[in-house]
Order: sequence, then C-alpha cells, then structure tokens
Amino acid sequence: MLHLHNVQSGYGVGQVLFGVSLAVSAGKVVSLMGRNGMGKTTTIRTIMGQLPLTAGRIERFGDDRPDRLPFQIARAGIGLVPEGRQIFSNLNVTENLQTFYQPPRDDSASHWHYDRVLALFPRLAERRDHAGNHLSGGEQQMLAIGRALMTNPKLLILDEATEGLAPIIRNQIWDCLATLKAEGQSILIIDKNVRAMARLADHHYILDKGRVVWDGDSETLLGTDGLTARYLGV
Ligand SMILES: Nc1ncnc2c1ncn2[C@@H]1O[C@H](COP(=O)(O)OP(=O)(O)O)[C@@H](O)[C@H]1O
Ligand SMILES: [Mg+2]
Repeated sequence: MLHLHNVQSGYGVGQVLFGVSLAVSAGKVVSLMGRNGMGKTTTIRTIMGQLPLTAGRIERFGDDRPDRLPFQIARAGIGLVPEGRQIFSNLNVTENLQTFYQPPRDDSASHWHYDRVLALFPRLAERRDHAGNHLSGGEQQMLAIGRALMTNPKLLILDEATEGLAPIIRNQIWDCLATLKAEGQSILIIDKNVRAMARLADHHYILDKGRVVWDGDSETLLGTDGLTARYLGV
C-alpha cells in the first residue's frame, strides 16, 4: 500500500525528517508514535504531497513518481483524517460527507457511501443538518473519519485519532477503528494512547527527532523495558 524509503523533508531550510522508512501492507494497521514535535505530522504531510520530498522515495500503491500532487494522492486512494480535523465549518454534516464521495476503485472493495457512514456513526445521523462549527469535538472527529471513508480509501490515515476527546468518545473511536480493521481496511494511525494502539495495530514505528528509532510488534512494544518511557514519555 505505502512504502517510505529514507524520506527526508521539512519546511524550507528547516529539515524535520532525516531518513524515515516505513511500510503499510494491505489489510494491516500500522502505528506511528513519538513525542510532540518529533515529525509525525510532517511525515503525514509528506506522504500526502503537501510537503516536498527532499530525498528518498515514497511508493503509494506501487507508484513512486515524486511529483504527485495532493489531489492526485488522495484520488489514488489515501483518505486522511488530519490533525485538528479541519472540517468545513460552514457546511452541514451531510454536505461535509457528500462533498468527498468517490466510488470504490475496484469491485471487490467494500463500498462506503452516505447511508453507511451514518450507520457507522448514528450520532452524525442525528446531527446531519448541523453545521460543522456547531458540532462537539467528538462529532467533528466522527465527521472527519466519515469524510475520509466517503473517498473509499485503500489506505486510511489518522493523525491524532483521539486527541482532545472525552474518554467515552475515545472508546467509540477505538471501537470504530477495530471494526474497520476487521473489515480489512488498511490504516496508518497516530495517537498518544500506547495501550489502545498496541491492541489495534499490527506493527509500530517510533519516531524521535525525525528518525525511526524503533519498530516492532505490540508484544515487543509493551514488553521492552524502558522503551515507551524513553521515546514516548509514558
Ligand atoms: N508549518 C511549519 N513550519 C515550520 N516548522 C514546522 C511547521 N510545522 C511543524 N514544524 C516543526 O517540525 C517539527 C515536527 O513537527 P510535527 O511533524 O508537527 O511533529 P509531531 O506531529 O510529531 O508533533 C517541529 O519541530 C515543528 O516545530
Ligand atoms: Mg502532529
């Protein structure tokens, strides 16, 4: 699905990523962890073509052309739930969802459409006529996830999946992600809850100052003394 090879990137002269390699295969859930400011969002922006690659290579669904634009990358099948959600505040729930609809790219894929997203998030169905800026943080995050699903993504990326949400809403998001995984959805996820990430993800990468300093499975993540304390501060 996605393969980063020694990716370097940053903002103008401020280099942030110093050779990030990671992979997400079909049907897998992969986590990207690290303390604030370590380069997680920068990695996502580079994957999405919002920041230029200064060195290295990114393969998206087997295509490693370096000149892909954000809309081409989204259209190729990457659905993003961005940090801070970024929903359209002046559009209502229905409009936010329908604006993003793209049919699946192949017949075998499960088909996300408006009714199915509302069935996944009944709360959004109740709020369908409300404008984006009249939604709670949890409702906005559900809308951001629903909007990404409306693009029928081959790969779903969530940057800070549960940041700033009440515990009960967080649990709903984790349950929803477990459901998506069970349906075979490939996911790359960023979040600070190590336990929940260990339950959900098949493989984890830890970023520290723009470098991948560790990667491995959930058992090793939780079983390695000092690992999460050193790199995640937990
Ligand atoms: N728009 C920007 N312009 C310049 N520097 C930025 C910008 N966004 C983030 N940075 C810097 O890039 C580094 C990594 O940030 P970021 O990728 O957002 O980290 P994370 O998502 O892991 O918290 C930080 O040092 C941050 O200050
Ligand atoms: Mg971030």
